[in-house]
Amino acid sequence: MLMKYLCTAFFCVFPIVNHATGKEFTEHDMAHYRERIKSMFYHAYNSYLENAYPYDELRPLTCDGQDTWGSFSLTLIDALDTLLILGNKTEFQRVVSVLQENINFDSDVNASVFETNIRVVGGLLSAHLLSKKAGMELEVGWPCSGPLLRMAEEAARKLLPEGRYYST
Ligand SMILES: *[C@@H]1O[C@H](CO)[C@@H](O)[C@H](O)[C@H]1NC(C)=O
Ligand SMILES: *[C@@H]1O[C@H](CO)[C@@H](O)[C@H](O)[C@H]1NC(C)=O
Repeated sequence: MLMKYLCTAFFCVFPIVNHATGKEFTEHDMAHYRERIKSMFYHAYNSYLENAYPYDELRPLTCDGQDTWGSFSLTLIDALDTLLILGNKTEFQRVVSVLQENINFDSDVNASVFETNIRVVGGLLSAHLLSKKAGMELEVGWPCSGPLLRMAEEAARKLLPEGRYYST
């Protein structure tokens, strides 16, 4: 999800630069923008860890954290797949163990069905499928079993009763 914002930012920059110079992107340009994307990601990610974790999101003006979508350290789950796309296996593995130890879906909160579904359930499922690429130790039976898959299932089951009332 975080990657989506970064890509949006990237493609806003891309055509302007390309237009102004009238040139194709060289390998050198690509490397330059690749590094810029990385540094934008780490700026956002590390700032979240330093100022907002374990809350769901960083408030950029007050520079602190708040729970917005159910108190599941949402940004951390959101960032998992991006960490791996950027090649950061050690941080991916660290975050997976942090989530396993700290996330509790047995809490009395009002959560958004839509946001929880796409970001928490979806984030955990994609992290589960990426865990092999991330060099994690895999359970026997993976991809049909694993800790992240069980967490995704638990979160999804909590949403089931609401599904009957939710229409958008
Ligand atoms: C992975 O992310 C952590 C946290 O931002 C950072 O300290 C570390 O340097 C990163 N590692 C790589 C290989 O980018
Ligand atoms: C959730 O929202 C309902 C309706 O607004 C409210 O009555 C209830 O107290 C809220 N529950 C929690 C745990 O915030």
